[in-house]
Amino acid sequence: MPVSPPSFKFTRMPLQMVDIHCHILPETDDGAISLEESVAMCRAAASDGIKTIVATPHMFDGVHTTPDRETINQKIAMVMRACDSCVNLVPGGEVRYSYEIFQEASDPNARIKLNGTSYMLLEFPFHSVPPNIEMTIFQILNSGITPIIAHPERNKKIQEKPAILVNLIERGSFAQLDAGSLTGSFGREAYHVSKQIIEAGLAHFIATDAHHQDRRRPVLSQAAAIAADWGGEEYARAMVESNPEALINDRAIPFQPDADVDALLGRKKNKSWFAFWK
Ligand SMILES: [Fe+2]
Repeated sequence: MPVSPPSFKFTRMPLQMVDIHCHILPETDDGAISLEESVAMCRAAASDGIKTIVATPHMFDGVHTTPDRETINQKIAMVMRACDSCVNLVPGGEVRYSYEIFQEASDPNARIKLNGTSYMLLEFPFHSVPPNIEMTIFQILNSGITPIIAHPERNKKIQEKPAILVNLIERGSFAQLDAGSLTGSFGREAYHVSKQIIEAGLAHFIATDAHHQDRRRPVLSQAAAIAADWGGEEYARAMVESNPEALINDRAIPFQPDADVDALLGRKKNKSWFAFWK
């Protein structure tokens, strides 16, 4: 879906971005198919202003073999060596909602954690939201892990009923949008819902979810500029700079806008007393 280019231009450049979702490890999942492609992706990311990438292979998705921690670390070292450390790569995973989460959660070195922190990237199936998800979120939080919901704007059920996302955020989750949703790569619905989510202040991160060097590329700056058009520069910067930087250092997420969900939920704003008397 073609979208018009952002009108916003960042006043302070270059951006110092951190990408928390990227399928950059070679021959691991449906991402980079070779070491050469991983290196090309690293270089593309670096020239876009991305300083650090969390390598997030699919985990427990029923399709790909979940790599163990040693394999992830070895591949990270191999890619960084091959690209002369043009970016900093750290370990993580995109974890499909599954019972394995709870088997792993108690391990302090669990591979499901992003850079060994107390955060994880949680993926739902694209056409459904798991039943009893509120209880699951509660259990994950109770095990000391904070879930970041991966690309909720691409989930059919959340597109139809954004109140689901509002509920998950209110219960302590965070939300990560895909850059491609903002730039129109994932179609009209994902684009419009992304805009609504940002305008409502319910997004906390934008990440590339990159898979290859030529499609679903590891670039963030255009999506960040679009986000600035929709939600202002401070918010856009936070989603690609300070929030993911805090995450990989296991700190509290610093920028959490006050959510304004009336438009997202199709509610009319309450009239103020002043408006009432006018
Ligand atoms: Fe992904």
